[in-house]
Amino acid sequence: MSYFPPKTSTQALESESDRDEVQTGATPAEVISLANVAFGYSRKRLVLQDLNLSICRGEFLTLLGPSGCGKSTILNLIAGFYAPLAGRVTHGGEPIKGPSARRGVVFQSNALFDWMTVEQNIAFGFRFQSTSKYESRQRVKTIIELVGLRGSERKYPYELSGGMRQRVAVARSMVVQPEILLMDEPFAAVDVQTREGLQEELLKLHEQVAGAILFVTHSIEEAVFLSDRIIILDRNFGGIAHDISIHLPTPRYVAMNRVSEEFNHYRTDLYLKMKAIS
Ligand SMILES: Nc1ncnc2c1ncn2[C@@H]1O[C@H](COP(=O)(O)OP(=O)(O)OP(=O)(O)O)[C@@H](O)[C@H]1O
Ligand SMILES: [Mg+2]
Repeated sequence: MSYFPPKTSTQALESESDRDEVQTGATPAEVISLANVAFGYSRKRLVLQDLNLSICRGEFLTLLGPSGCGKSTILNLIAGFYAPLAGRVTHGGEPIKGPSARRGVVFQSNALFDWMTVEQNIAFGFRFQSTSKYESRQRVKTIIELVGLRGSERKYPYELSGGMRQRVAVARSMVVQPEILLMDEPFAAVDVQTREGLQEELLKLHEQVAGAILFVTHSIEEAVFLSDRIIILDRNFGGIAHDISIHLPTPRYVAMNRVSEEFNHYRTDLYLKMKAIS
């Protein structure tokens, strides 16, 4: 059914990363690495100091932490919008020197092009790719199905709800199968029901489309429902206070996972940990 290859057989991604590993000696499963990273928007005041973080292939990793602790800054460094003052930020073992289509980005409010239809906005994701017209059309069609936008292909952004617009933004970033998708509070601006729907669709997409996800949220529930691993950052310098693996039954997107005993256990544990650092 799906036009996307299953996670485990993503030939193009595998071979590209394998080549990186051979050239650079990065650990096999590692996609992104931050090693001893320091960063500040001015040299007088550091935001991150001596930060070490690895993100593995296919992993769903979420950053939680108090406002201002540096979550968005970490995403911006990985996206390639800023360079570290010290240390290394690498993708497949190679230093990140600027934005790349291999790393997709979704923010809280995403600028869609008002003059383009849903279909055209999503296809815009291919602007830097050499994908054939036929293949890109097929992939756009599949992803529209996956994010529940069938029937809205020809609509313009002003005709869409906030949740639908966010689905278009996620689809645009995912359609090119980035090796990592960076998501900064992507569902914070929509109502609770829409948000739950978007979370479930994101998990389904994550199953279908190869790649890691680095997600930022303030919601403990959202973090537990979505993540394989949650990192709680300290208030100071983006230090890592806790690194917690989440094990919930698969498929992860089923509603039962929101009310199970295990879910509540993780939620309570994270709540207490967050309370202790705030
Ligand atoms: N463009 C900027 N110029 C100067 N300082 C900035 C800039 N962006 C962020 N900062 C500062 O860097 C620190 C970390 O900000 P960052 O946006 O990464 O935090 P955050 O954890 O994402 O917070 P929030 O949860 O509120 O989004 C804050 O003290 C913030 O004021
Ligand atoms: Mg932020």
